[in-house]
Amino acid sequence: MAQGKDRVVLAYSGGLDTSVAIGWIGEQTGMEVVAVAVDVGQGGEDMQVVRQRALDCGAVEAYVADARDEFATEYCMPALKANALYQDSYPLVSAISRPVISKHLVRAARQFGATTVAHGCTGKGNDQVRFEVSITSMAPDLKTIAPVRDLALTRDVAIDYANKHHLPIETTRNNPFSIDQNVWGRAIETGFLEDIWNAPTKDVYNYTDDPTYPPLPDEVVIHFEKGIPTAIDGRPVTPLEAIQEMNRRAGAQGIGRIDVVEDRLVGIKSREIYEAPGAIALIAAHKELENVTVERELARYKKRVDERWGELVYDAQWFSPLKKALDAFIEDTQEYVTGDIRMTLHGGRATVTGRRSESSLYDFNLATYETGDSFDQSYSRGFIEIYGLSARLAAARDVRFGKGLQVGEGSL
Ligand code: ARG
Repeated sequence: MAQGKDRVVLAYSGGLDTSVAIGWIGEQTGMEVVAVAVDVGQGGEDMQVVRQRALDCGAVEAYVADARDEFATEYCMPALKANALYQDSYPLVSAISRPVISKHLVRAARQFGATTVAHGCTGKGNDQVRFEVSITSMAPDLKTIAPVRDLALTRDVAIDYANKHHLPIETTRNNPFSIDQNVWGRAIETGFLEDIWNAPTKDVYNYTDDPTYPPLPDEVVIHFEKGIPTAIDGRPVTPLEAIQEMNRRAGAQGIGRIDVVEDRLVGIKSREIYEAPGAIALIAAHKELENVTVERELARYKKRVDERWGELVYDAQWFSPLKKALDAFIEDTQEYVTGDIRMTLHGGRATVTGRRSESSLYDFNLATYETGDSFDQSYSRGFIEIYGLSARLAAARDVRFGKGLQVGEGSL
């Protein structure tokens, strides 16, 4: 780009804000805008329609990246292996999509000779941090800009701009929600949900049906190989297909609706509604297969690693050294997480009813109370004697000092 204008690659969704941002960035900065729409399985409009709209709104180039399989395999599957639920509830829907979108933005920046990357986030959320930290982790030379945050592109300004320039986009002042969705789930915020006493109304949901009056129970058998679902009811599936099928089947049963007040990276507590039927059902199945196949000490430790992994990913650290090292740990734990989980999907719940694995650590002969018992109970006496020794010494000392535990009068 010797003489030409500077170029900026914009993460384009096809919605009002990013459509207006194309012309707005041009006016405010003099840069040319290359629009990049990344398909992470958000559904909705045809991506070619989205691409054409970007051109109609003044983009010099517009480009669609089909990242659905990449997102499912390289982002959703690691989240599944980590049983990732931020604050024990949120399956990181938006948090895992920002790194993959960023990757495609950086790639486009290189391809189209851009110096800057732009995104449509506000200055109050996590996603601005995720985009910018991801981008700088891959391409420290690229600059970033957020028109809503940095160029005063408020919603009212956007609506007026779109009307004035006859942009081919619906402008309405009363769409109550801010929504982000992809194949791993859907996030809904703002509007009346900002009053945390208000219950979500029916129109909030789209991936899930109301679990109050569910259809008949749906039994499913999911086969995992090293922590990844590879077949459903005997039919081989790709990670993307596994998520899509479970979204459909668990969604029909109203599984995976989440309503939570969450701690944002920027310090705000915010009320979020999520629906992630496939993710929640798959995590439930995966966790149970781990219960059967992962050794006790490793399983206990992994729980802590999983939690930390989720926090890092939530906190915009997808490409960080610690996250990468924890990935290696988690990958190692999945060596034997192979086998089948049977679940009943019904009325908002995914309930495990059976497990089967060649690499199971469950030993029937050790566990059984019936004949065939191979566990020598006489060993337990000596084990408890030594295991309880330090507690006994401490208790005896308490007695000597007159501080023995009072268990009350009467017959014990
Ligand atoms: N609070 C969630 C997160 O930070 C979801 C944000 C999604 N954005 C939205 N416009 N609803 O990961």
